[in-house]
Amino acid sequence: MNDVITTIFNHRSIRSYSKSPIKEDDLDKIIQASQHAPSSINGQHVSIIAIKDEVKKAKLAILAGNQSYIEEAPLFLIFCQDYYRAYLACQKNNVSLEIVNHLEATLVGAIDVGLSMMNAINVAESLGLGTVCIGGIRNQIEEVVRMLDLPSYVIPLCGLCIGYPEDKSELKPRLPHDAVYFEETYNPNLNKQIDQYDEEMANYMFQRTDGKSNRNWSEGIAQFYKNKSKRDIRKAMIGQGFKNE
Ligand SMILES: Cc1cc2nc3c(=O)[nH]c(=O)nc-3n(C[C@H](O)[C@H](O)[C@H](O)COP(=O)(O)O)c2cc1C
Repeated sequence: MNDVITTIFNHRSIRSYSKSPIKEDDLDKIIQASQHAPSSINGQHVSIIAIKDEVKKAKLAILAGNQSYIEEAPLFLIFCQDYYRAYLACQKNNVSLEIVNHLEATLVGAIDVGLSMMNAINVAESLGLGTVCIGGIRNQIEEVVRMLDLPSYVIPLCGLCIGYPEDKSELKPRLPHDAVYFEETYNPNLNKQIDQYDEEMANYMFQRTDGKSNRNWSEGIAQFYKNKSKRDIRKAMIGQGFKNE
């Protein structure tokens, strides 16, 4: 074990924060870490917008589906997929920005955002801060686009609450190793592993909720995925210049 591995293995999402502000120096390290992530063709298709204003955080908490910890956390970072600088680069070189018409742009942008967020999370946690990702900002994505004054070719993908943990949640168990790691070819016979994980997660939930719930993993996933997504991402993306063909 080294410090990096220890930090990563100790990760758990934090949904309760103290009011203590984050040191500017720590925020600077978090943003620098995000920028140090690799990016496709060094395109650096990520922008981060920090929200510290209480009124804006309260509004975002509601937009994200009443997730009160967005308001509670002293800092809320919004990670955006950003092709605006690529647009400027193309303009400077007298060509059009063709890639935004293709789904490939969104895949690349989402990977870049994910890598950048992960660096931010690891550094924040190594500094004693807690975090939770907030995909809920895509619930009413067009409203978030307006709030942030985003130009064309920029779209918010995920938020990140950061603050000092008020309580330390339990580590959440992960799927068995042989359900996610394969050598040479994929093995689709995973029902046994899912049964095993369901049992583990049911026990975990029972303890975490003081006996109020023993919902297992597959029940949770099925509940979520049985419905069509209510988020109109395609419309928002088209509005921001991404055709995704
Ligand atoms: C892309 C993404 C979006 C997420 N969105 C939310 C969210 O809107 N609200 C929330 O409470 N947790 C959110 N999470 C946190 C996950 O629920 C959490 O990471 C997962 O349950 C594993 O738990 P752990 O992070 O404590 O290990 C999100 C995580 C990711 C990676």
